[in-house]
Amino acid sequence: MLLSLIAAMDENRLLADARGIPWKLPRDVAHFREYTDSKWLLLGRTTYEEMRGWFRPGHCPLVLSSRCGWDPEIGRVVSSVPQAIATAEAAGQGELVCIGGGQVFAAALPYANKMVLTRVHASITPEGRPVYFPPWNASEWKDETIWQQPAEAGHALPFALHELTRR
Ligand SMILES: NC(=O)c1ccc[n+]([C@@H]2O[C@H](COP(=O)([O-])OP(=O)(O)OC[C@H]3O[C@@H](n4cnc5c(N)ncnc54)[C@H](OP(=O)(O)O)[C@@H]3O)[C@@H](O)[C@H]2O)c1
Repeated sequence: MLLSLIAAMDENRLLADARGIPWKLPRDVAHFREYTDSKWLLLGRTTYEEMRGWFRPGHCPLVLSSRCGWDPEIGRVVSSVPQAIATAEAAGQGELVCIGGGQVFAAALPYANKMVLTRVHASITPEGRPVYFPPWNASEWKDETIWQQPAEAGHALPFALHELTRR
């Protein structure tokens, strides 16, 4: 069973602030859609609320929450990362993709064997409450750069796509 994490962050691992995700990078959005297409997803209740209307047929969101008696409109609620992994595995899924946010990335990182990371080459000053991707031990991961996107029309910030696999 593969648990992968997909995230976009700046040089300081900033994921979001009071503005939401503080960049607009169409190529990254396209890559996110492509990678997550028709997959089972693990996400926090906050990110789920923000992404209402985004899910497509084939997506099965497993929403991490400690709330009792709450159910998402689509997908299922789970109370822990191991429960999410077991649920996806029991349904015959080969991969569960964790799409955030910060709290859920932190809870899922110890169980992850792959990370698909967009590294935005900028240090953004957060406005309001910042949300960060958790730190990871670089020596435990093989880090491969898949492609790089320079700053140009439509992409104000340069960024690179990395795939990390646990050694
Ligand atoms: N840049 C990126 O790649 C990226 C990706 C995704 C999201 N984001 C951004 O991240 C922000 C949201 O992140 P966030 O950290 O505030 O929230 P989050 O991780 O999306 O969700 C937090 C909620 O998930 C539940 N939860 C988290 N850990 C849990 C655990 N161990 N057990 C049970 N439930 C748990 C709790 O729900 P209950 O309160 O219901 O118990 C908690 O309030 C948004 O601004 C979003 O735009 C950025």
